[in-house]
Amino acid sequence: MQITPSILSADFARLADEIARIPSADGVHVDVMDNHFVPNLTIGRPVVEAVMAATDHPIDVHLMIENADRWAPEYAETGAKTITFHVEASQAPVRLARELRRLGARASLGLRPATPIEPYGDLLREFDQILIMTVEPGFGGQKFLESMLPKISRTRELAQRHGVDLAIQVDGGVSLETIERCAQAGADVFVAGSAVFTADDPDAMVRALAQAVAAAPSLGQVLLEGGC
Ligand code: DX5
Ligand code: ZN
Repeated sequence: MQITPSILSADFARLADEIARIPSADGVHVDVMDNHFVPNLTIGRPVVEAVMAATDHPIDVHLMIENADRWAPEYAETGAKTITFHVEASQAPVRLARELRRLGARASLGLRPATPIEPYGDLLREFDQILIMTVEPGFGGQKFLESMLPKISRTRELAQRHGVDLAIQVDGGVSLETIERCAQAGADVFVAGSAVFTADDPDAMVRALAQAVAAAPSLGQVLLEGGC
C-alpha cells in the first residue's frame, strides 16, 4: 500500500519546501499536462528533473499528454520510478510499456473514467500498474466519481485471473471520505492532491490516509485468501 501525494495542489513557487512537508509519503506524484489531452497546462521534463533533484522520494510521473508514444520515453530517461501514460493517447501501448521498462521505469497505464479495463485484460502483464482516474483528468479538487469503484474491483479481478502482480492506483478526489472505499474495491496506490496540500499538516494527512487504508479490508486481500 502506498500514498503518493500529487503536487498539483502544492505551491509551485516553493515545490522543494512543499515536498519536504510530506516525509511520510511513499512517493511524489507529478502531473504533466499539455493543454491538448486535458484542458490544462502544467510542467514538463525540466521541472520533473528539478523535483527529482530536490527529494529522495520516488517520482511517479502521470502524463496527461497526447502522443505518449513520442514523449513518454523522455520522462523515463529522467530516472522517475513510474511513468503513467494514458491508453487513449497511445497508438502502441505494448511497445511503449516495453520501452519504458527497458529504460528502467515501471510502466503504468492510465484510464480515463469512460475507458473500460476489459479490452486490456490480456495486456496486463505488460504493466506494473494501472491508474484508474476517479475524476476526469485535468484539475485538482474535483469530486470523487463513485461510479469508478466497480472498475477498480474488475481490474483487481482481471489481474488475479491473469495471474499478474499489478499495482492499482486511484487518482482524483481521494480523501479521508473516499479512500477506504477505494481500498476495499482493490486499489493499493493512492494519489491525493488537495486533501494533502490543503491540510494544515500535510504529513499528518498522509499518515491518516495510510491508517484509513490499513483499517479497510481490501478485495486484493480477499482474493489472495481465496475468499471470492
Ligand atoms: C488530476 C490529476 C490528479 C490531481 C488530483 O487530473 O491527475 O493527480 O492532482 O487532485 P485531487 O486529489 O485534488 O483530486
Ligand atoms: Zn495525477
